[in-house]
Amino acid sequence: MSIFEIILLVITALIGFSIVYSTLTLGISPMPSSKKARQAMVQLSDALGHEVGIETDIGVGPLLELGSGWGSLLIPLAKKYPQREVVGFELSIMPWFITLILIKVMGLKNIKVYRKNFLKADLMGASVIFCYLFPGGMKALADKFNSEDAWPEFLISNNFSLPSGKPIKVIELDDVYKSPVYLYTFKD
Ligand SMILES: C[S@@+](CC[C@H](N)C(=O)[O-])C[C@H]1O[C@@H](n2cnc3c(N)ncnc32)[C@H](O)[C@@H]1O
Repeated sequence: MSIFEIILLVITALIGFSIVYSTLTLGISPMPSSKKARQAMVQLSDALGHEVGIETDIGVGPLLELGSGWGSLLIPLAKKYPQREVVGFELSIMPWFITLILIKVMGLKNIKVYRKNFLKADLMGASVIFCYLFPGGMKALADKFNSEDAWPEFLISNNFSLPSGKPIKVIELDDVYKSPVYLYTFKD
């Protein structure tokens, strides 16, 4: 085996280890939302003013993605809303790093991605929060909103609902599981 092959093997093993480690510690892998789910999430963000029966659109605060993975939703959001601040939080090193590189290569100016636990981040003032987590993650998020009294105007969640509260809209995806995408509003 050449030095080059050994280096490649070590790098591949480190990447694999870091993904397994973050999956075990966070309780969820960096699996991206499906294309249909991403389309539904963007469609819901598009229709927000209409959905809540108001003239305004999605407010003026930042659009946040909690657990932004490889950037496969974060980047399309930044392109769709070039005037808006789009912020992702991702703890898993590889997905975060790849997103960072993609942002630089694409020259996107309205997007930031932090390698940070969103449960410890300041989410105050967010217009829309996007996420694709797991039941425990949704509960932790709801507990954070409650304890800090920092609810976003809207929450769009792929596949997992909040432990309490009623979504104002649920899109059922055209896939084998009929996966739901939930839209919540916390506007007064
Ligand atoms: C299922 S993936 C979804 C990725 C992306 N949001 C999408 O829809 O394509 C969930 C991501 O959340 C990240 N994550 C989970 N808990 C987190 C936390 N507390 N802080 C930051 N990232 C977290 C995981 O590392 C993982 O990449």
